[in-house]
Amino acid sequence: MMIDRRRLMGALPLTVPALLSACKGAAQPAPAARLETPPLKSLSSLPIGCCVQTPHLQDPVFTELLTRHFSQVTPEWQMKMEYILPEGASAADVSTWRWDAPDAIAAFAAMNGMRLHGTTLVWYAEHPPAFEAIDGQSGFEAAYRRYIETVVRRYGAATGWDVVNEPVDEDGSRLREHLWQRNLGQEEHMLIAFETAHAAAPDAVLFINEYFVEKIPAKRLAYMRLIETLLKRGAKIGGVGIQSHLDIDARPGDSKSAIRDLASFGLPVHISEIDIGLSREKPEPRTVDDQLKLQAGLMTEVAEAFLDLPQSQRYAFTAWGLRDKDSWLRNPPNAGDGTDQPLMFDDNGQPKPMFEALAAALRGG
Ligand code: G3I
Repeated sequence: MMIDRRRLMGALPLTVPALLSACKGAAQPAPAARLETPPLKSLSSLPIGCCVQTPHLQDPVFTELLTRHFSQVTPEWQMKMEYILPEGASAADVSTWRWDAPDAIAAFAAMNGMRLHGTTLVWYAEHPPAFEAIDGQSGFEAAYRRYIETVVRRYGAATGWDVVNEPVDEDGSRLREHLWQRNLGQEEHMLIAFETAHAAAPDAVLFINEYFVEKIPAKRLAYMRLIETLLKRGAKIGGVGIQSHLDIDARPGDSKSAIRDLASFGLPVHISEIDIGLSREKPEPRTVDDQLKLQAGLMTEVAEAFLDLPQSQRYAFTAWGLRDKDSWLRNPPNAGDGTDQPLMFDDNGQPKPMFEALAAALRGG
């Protein structure tokens, strides 16, 4: 009976009894026992999330792996303005908006008993023609409120939303300037977004969400100052998102301190988009195995720091993709050299050391 070494090593020590029985030389072993790794979602009560796109839902390998290990889904891009308000849509006419893909993802989540986390309502990177067309006009705020209310109500099953995404500039020196801030005011456009989302879904957990708060101290500080200001001004912020787009050259301890700092508001925390790129700077030639070990070590740091939070502050732990080949880092426009391996499952859906690291942390959490 041939045992796939990768799967075998990948399974250790999760299914030692199965391994022992499979290796005890049973006279005529049954067909190769599929060395299963227990589902991540069975190892802890913590919601384990993954982002999805509708093409993934047509791939049975993807959906089997997704529903086996994960208990929450986040639409990767099809619940954003760029999808819902395509070219030709009017901000004033909801009948011109596009719903097929986000509806399909919401239906998939419901059919599979998975939580739905919505992303994102307001983002500097999304300024669709429907809103560009009313830039500076008196109806802008009404249209902004209408968009948020309509989307949040349509997906009322969502447990939570990224209401404001990536508000702090790259280096943390200031808050971003963009269509929404220009028309409604810097803090005001965020206050309106949280107010409107809360009115549309009073029970949903409303998040602000940011990246690189681990490696850029100024960005973490600016993010924290913004959250404090918005809370003082009455924003219904119900959670803090830490995207955790990391790479193996991250300084050990930075993720742990970022989680500690951002949990200091006492609100639920969402590790909302974790992936861990292999060396981007390529400082020196390292074997892939060495890099995968570093990747697993960083996953351990993030997972253990998150699991150290009080249960009330552990909203969810979400991977930004299922298999390496599904990653935004492997697809245009961010494809790089197309070789990155930033996720928990390899291109064939086999669990990697990064998966084992999360599983071990969940078991010990
Ligand atoms: O699937 C279509 C394809 O049919 C079409 O030919 C092609 C060209 O128009 O577009 C493809 O869709 C693209 C989609 O990714 C799937 O690859 C969209 O244009 C593109 O905008 C979309 O990019 C997403 C991006 O956010 C913008 O929404 C990425 O998938 C997604 O991973 C990325 O996620 C962001 C988070 O929301 C916020 N944090 C950073 C993170 C990574 O950038």
